[in-house]
Amino acid sequence: PFVVTENCIKCKYTDCVEVCPVDCFHEGPNFLVIDPDECIDCTLCEPECPINAIYPEDDVPAGQEAFVQLNAELAKAWPVLTTRKDPLPDAKEWEGVPGKLDQLER
Ligand code: SF4
Ligand code: F3S
Repeated sequence: PFVVTENCIKCKYTDCVEVCPVDCFHEGPNFLVIDPDECIDCTLCEPECPINAIYPEDDVPAGQEAFVQLNAELAKAWPVLTTRKDPLPDAKEWEGVPGKLDQLER
């Protein structure tokens, strides 16, 4: 499956959700995740994210391996999102900031 990684935190652009043919995206307060049990590896979402937060599970950036398990866990807790919405208000300022895992809200 594909995995949403750290750069989505506090940005949440949501460009990714509308292309998913199987509605895998689940929304939390400041992050989105992909349900690995639903993802069919179609690859459509990966280029939609303007800040490159989405990777194949086997290709997540070094140091972000924890996001594989986080996507699986949080997908079970959060509701599905299929319609694009406004990014978070400070999205621009948080793009590419390292160490955002500390900012994840559940
Ligand atoms: Fe959905 Fe395809 Fe992205 Fe998987 S790879 S989350 S099926 S759009
Ligand atoms: Fe997050 Fe990128 Fe989607 S910032 S909400 S993974 S478009």
